[in-house]
Amino acid sequence: MDERSPILIFDSGVGGLTIHDALRRVLPDAPVIYGADLAGLPYGAKSEAEIAARVAGLLGRMAERYQPRLACIACNTASTIALGMVRDVLEIPIVGTVPAIKPAAAQSKTGVIGLIGTQATIRQRYVDDLEARFAVGKTLLRVAAPDLVAAAEAKLRGQAVEGAAIERAADELAQMPDGQRIDTLVLACTHFPLLADELAAVFGDGVALVDGAEGIARRIASLLEGQPMRRTGADRFVVTGPVDAAKGLENALERRGFSSPEIF
Ligand code: DGL
Repeated sequence: MDERSPILIFDSGVGGLTIHDALRRVLPDAPVIYGADLAGLPYGAKSEAEIAARVAGLLGRMAERYQPRLACIACNTASTIALGMVRDVLEIPIVGTVPAIKPAAAQSKTGVIGLIGTQATIRQRYVDDLEARFAVGKTLLRVAAPDLVAAAEAKLRGQAVEGAAIERAADELAQMPDGQRIDTLVLACTHFPLLADELAAVFGDGVALVDGAEGIARRIASLLEGQPMRRTGADRFVVTGPVDAAKGLENALERRGFSSPEIF
């Protein structure tokens, strides 16, 4: 194993940076390459067929070009739809990002769990299966909050976050049967932890926010245990489409040890 072979982190946009941040804490020396499909953002509004074809195709080409040691699909929408397909076509280990229903169900005291994700994620059978396996006897209330993807993208570009979108999601959950008893909220989109402060301000102290980033980082670290790793400089951040779409991200990327965005 080449010590400079990177871990590929892939998302439609900046959401995967929440996985990156957790990964950096457990593997500080791991070389990373981040692939953001900005030309395809948002995935949440696309069909299953379109997402599957796009993600499998892009990851295949990225794996060929960058020879990563492992790829992480740092996107709930892409993972719940295309994880199996990507695993079938790539030979490296693939780690997905799926809604953290298991830990949420384990910590909820009221047994009522909220889940916010993209339109595509909340309708996936993958999520039905997680609910059936890990939330038996609990109530899982799902709401699509696609505007929060755009809000997180804006926040990382230094723009103001529009609070109304979070309030709409909170109201929608509160109005569902048993919605007032939610004490745990699954952030089932990797973009959403970037809005943790704004979400906490709207949902209040009585609702714990749960996401899968730490668990995914630990999983990657355990799969790569014992492998030599060396970062020789800034990590690369590649985007599909015009590089202008990444304008404004420079500070957020530099803080995380990435060089300026490049075109894939
Ligand atoms: N970050 C992606 C996720 O975790 C979704 C953003 C999008 O709609 O593209 O689901």
